[in-house]
Amino acid sequence: MPQGIITISYIIAALLFIFSLAGLSKQETARRGNVLGIIGMGIALAVTIANAHLDALMYILAAMLIGALIGTRLAVKVEMTGMPELIACLHSFVGFAAVLVGYNSFLRLSMNADAATHGAMLNIELAEIFLGVFIGAVTFTGSIIAFGKLRGLIKSKALMLPGKNILNLLAIIASLTLMGFFIYEGGSMVYLAIVTAIALLLGLHLVASIGGADMPVVISMLNSYSGWATAAAGFMLSNNLLIVTGAIVGSSGAILSYIMCQAMNRSFIAVIAGGFGNEKASAQEVEEGEYREIIPEEVAEILKSSENVIIAPGYGMAVAQAQYSVADISRKLREMGINVRFAIHPVAGRLPGHMNVLLAEAKVPYDIVLEMDEINEDFASTDTVLVIGANDTVNPLAQEDPSSPIAGMPVLEVWKGKNVIVFKRSMSAGYAGVPNPLFYKENARMCFGNARDTLDRILKAM
Ligand code: TAP
Repeated sequence: MPQGIITISYIIAALLFIFSLAGLSKQETARRGNVLGIIGMGIALAVTIANAHLDALMYILAAMLIGALIGTRLAVKVEMTGMPELIACLHSFVGFAAVLVGYNSFLRLSMNADAATHGAMLNIELAEIFLGVFIGAVTFTGSIIAFGKLRGLIKSKALMLPGKNILNLLAIIASLTLMGFFIYEGGSMVYLAIVTAIALLLGLHLVASIGGADMPVVISMLNSYSGWATAAAGFMLSNNLLIVTGAIVGSSGAILSYIMCQAMNRSFIAVIAGGFGNEKASAQEVEEGEYREIIPEEVAEILKSSENVIIAPGYGMAVAQAQYSVADISRKLREMGINVRFAIHPVAGRLPGHMNVLLAEAKVPYDIVLEMDEINEDFASTDTVLVIGANDTVNPLAQEDPSSPIAGMPVLEVWKGKNVIVFKRSMSAGYAGVPNPLFYKENARMCFGNARDTLDRILKAM
């Protein structure tokens, strides 16, 4: 295929990816954004395949077929609540691919040593290979640990090795030194293997050191790393589209991580440095006291006599698939002339915008779904607050206990409502593993059971 056509196709694909991202930034245009992304990827694949050597074509098609079968099955099967795990898993593939591309490029470079580039160009190629392998290996193991934490296979609590910041720093200094030797000596498999091992351990350690409630930032950070790994692979393969796409993913992931850190009152640098400064954080004991139970039929009575209601949904609503029952209750209350609004915490659920997507799916009007900053002051003047499967995002310890792992994280101040009703199945802690004193407050009542069942009973009683 003529180079000109390849270049133009890649530019069109890159533009489509940019328009796709722009579309995905709003609910109303998200579907269009998705379609543009699919067309861009279709063009990229078609051109890459058309441009492949004939003897490589069989391998490419076989790999694509296997990948497509696995991908389709996963995409059809995955629950909304399992999306972050799937994303973490996919990031690990990107990291692994970048490591393989790095080794492949190095072998190709060493085999063609006589015909190969010399001088500055050779140094640049060696630096690309070294960095690609390093970023790829960190992304690979980091994503595997993130997958394990999100799946519940590994405890979500932060790993606190003694001197953990020094260990990270040493790993980075050692890698930079090795890079210097690697380039100076014109490339060596030994250095590449050592840095791979260091980067694999660094990835493990960085993500294991980050506590449960900071996991959202880790996911977007790994997203960013996977973008840089892709860009590095693009440099090694001299593929402009990979470089552009990788840079888009890398920078948008970094911006998202920054926004999330701000929303959660965390230092961006501290999180990307593997929970730097978290050393004192530990799960706290709270004075438990007594909690009071309530049955759904009583909740229905309280709701009917309220003027203002705020619903704070969380991960449990997603697990119970209770968004339809929540939407029906809110519709019924609004028909009765009661002011109902939804309060959305930026990291409620398990992925950015999780609650917004579920509520939109259940046809809750956008204008009654408010972000935390827009509604937090209104809890004090609210008659009834329904906390549906939310826990960490409504935990007063974040404000009350500076030594708590969630200290400083902004939370929905649901406890300020006149009546607070918490829907969950037991007294167990939320994702961050921190106990929640909200459940023992004077104005709080626990409505135990699977959220969908308890809400359906409320609907019936209404
Ligand atoms: P969580 O703190 O995760 O608590 C969810 C609660 O839902 C649990 O306490 C659980 O209690 C309850 N629950 C589970 N299944 C239920 C069911 N079928 N019916 C009723 N209740 C059920 O929720 P949250 O307030 O949304 O906080 C989110 C947490 O996840 C934060 O720590 C956040 O940092 C983290 N996180 C967020 C993201 C993103 S990007 N949003 C990504 C990764 C991690 P029971 O077991 O007693 O029922």
